[in-house]
Amino acid sequence: MSDAQSRLDLFIDRMVSQRACLDYAIADTAKQTGPVFELGLGNGRTYHHMMHRIRNRPVYVFERAVASHPDSTPPDDHLIMGDVRETLPASLDHFGATASLIHADLGGHNRKKNDAFARFVSPLIEPLLAIGGLMVSSDRMYFENLSEVPLPDGAVEGRCFIYRR
Ligand SMILES: C[S@@+](CC[C@H](N)C(=O)[O-])C[C@H]1O[C@@H](n2cnc3c(N)ncnc32)[C@H](O)[C@@H]1O
Repeated sequence: MSDAQSRLDLFIDRMVSQRACLDYAIADTAKQTGPVFELGLGNGRTYHHMMHRIRNRPVYVFERAVASHPDSTPPDDHLIMGDVRETLPASLDHFGATASLIHADLGGHNRKKNDAFARFVSPLIEPLLAIGGLMVSSDRMYFENLSEVPLPDGAVEGRCFIYRR
């Protein structure tokens, strides 16, 4: 094996960073009332974490195929089913630029594919964020008008990214 870090090391870094960045972003945007968007439900671990910590704002989940833990499955009226390449533009008509926090964890195991996808969805995500809102992502994003925010303590560089409008 040539890499200094094992897959287990990388996975742990990603999980620890995801939690640190989500906790930071939830606290930072706590006074905002706009909706929160979870892009990619997966097992529902990050959704479950967000639901435990977010009290004052609705959380909407974007997912193409729900396969989450029963504890971590959003109600139908907070689930936006379909491919985000279609549901994000459609949601702009409905929500406008109101999201206080957007979390995206849409990637799989292929870094090149994840990067290409991040480039494609960045311009679809950017207009949904309210002024002052934060976007947390497991992949580097390619925004025109959002600024990258330094990571909070506990997060590992390159494993999670935070952007502010
Ligand atoms: C890595 S998982 C998310 C894991 C989640 N953060 C957790 O803690 O359990 C990625 C999810 O994104 C979803 N996804 C990937 N590409 C998508 C797309 N184009 N549209 C909608 N959902 C997508 C997948 O179906 C998968 O459920």
